[in-house]
Formats: sequence, structure tokens, C-alpha cells
Amino acid sequence: MSTLTWFGHNCWSLETLGKHVLVDPFLDDSPTAPIKSAQAKADYVLVSHGHYDHVADAAKIAKRTGATAVSNFEICQWLSQQGVKHTEAMNLGGSIALSFGRVKLTVAHHSSVLPDGTPGGNPGGFLFTLSDAVVYFACDTALFGDMALYARGENGKGIDLAVLPIGDRFTMGPADSIKAIELIQPHRVLPTHYNTWPPIAQDAAAWAARVRSETSAEPLVLKPGESVTI
Ligand code: NI
Ligand code: MN
Repeated sequence: MSTLTWFGHNCWSLETLGKHVLVDPFLDDSPTAPIKSAQAKADYVLVSHGHYDHVADAAKIAKRTGATAVSNFEICQWLSQQGVKHTEAMNLGGSIALSFGRVKLTVAHHSSVLPDGTPGGNPGGFLFTLSDAVVYFACDTALFGDMALYARGENGKGIDLAVLPIGDRFTMGPADSIKAIELIQPHRVLPTHYNTWPPIAQDAAAWAARVRSETSAEPLVLKPGESVTI
């Protein structure tokens, strides 16, 4: 059993096998984060791409906790230059075994420049194959047809839980997220990357109603700080 907690925007904490896996840490400057970076627990810090609203607190948290940073090669190099000791560099399509499960760096259609202007490699998402569940974080991306390939998971059992952006403007919005759900066919789906600021404001209840009526997935809408059991 694992627990997934939303810290607002695209920051998620997965607790599994006694490990804390923190995705896209954006806490200190996020208007919706329920905790500050000093309170974050992490054995691993995963960064999907170089934008500030995903990488902001990664180095700070990894240095304080000794966590291993997991990201594309360019972002791992950038984090190393800032004093992060342990990194696991990847690139698109690759997967690695970590102490809590397997992680694949998936395609995302977006951009990825780091806050200081350093090229941040290609943006990505994460497919987690845990001992008892497959979890897909699309992260910042447009809709794309190859999401259907991820529907098979790593073991042919399909996706138990998908975390999809619905904010629109910088990522896919609610309408394209419905198409993504049709491609991915997850059992459950959680919205992310919305309501952090007015330009990505969305009605999550209306989105959930559409998911229920138009797809076979079960939508779960969390408030920042809330958790779901996987
Ligand atoms: Ni972004
Ligand atoms: Mn973003």
C-alpha cells in the first residue's frame, strides 16, 4: 500500500515501502502549498523539467535530506553544480530500478529551460511501477497519442492511477485531459497543475463530472495537503 499526497501545483509526495518520493518540489513560493520546503521529507526528489514551478526547492530539499535527485541528465548536472550529492540521471524512454520501485522517464510535450537560463534538456513525465500498482505522472504536457502506449504499464496490467494536468494555457486543459484518460484508461485519475494562480484556474468539480460521464475512470479531486491511498 502506498500513500500519495498533493502539495499543490504539480508537487506530489508518494510514500511507499517506507520511502518518501517527492515529485516537482515547488513549496516556498507556491501560493497553495500546505507545507514549506523545510518540512518536506524526501528519500528521492524527482524533477520533470526545468521550469521554476517544478524545480524551485529541489536542490534545497535534496541537500538538507540527502535525497537522491532523479531527472533528465541536464537537470541532474545542474542540481549537482548546486551541491546535490546524489543524482540518478536519465533520459526519455529510459527506466531505472530504485529502492521503492521502477521509474521510467516518459515523453512530455512542453519546454524545459532552468530558472537561470541553462538548457534543461527535454521535459518528461514519470511512470512508476510499484510492487502493487502502476502510477503515471504526465507532468507538464500537451495531449499526445503515445499516451495510449503507457496504458499497458510496465507489466501489461494497466495504469492504476494517472495524475494529469488540467490547468490549460501551459499544459493540456480539461477537454484534452478527457481524451488523455480515454487513451490511458487509468482506474483512477487525479487532476494537477491548476488553481495555483488565476491563469490556470479550473473548476475541478465540473472536470470530475465530465470524467464520470465520459470515461470509465474514477476521478479523485484533492485539496492541497490531502492524500489518497493506492
Ligand atoms: Ni513547465
Ligand atoms: Mn508548470
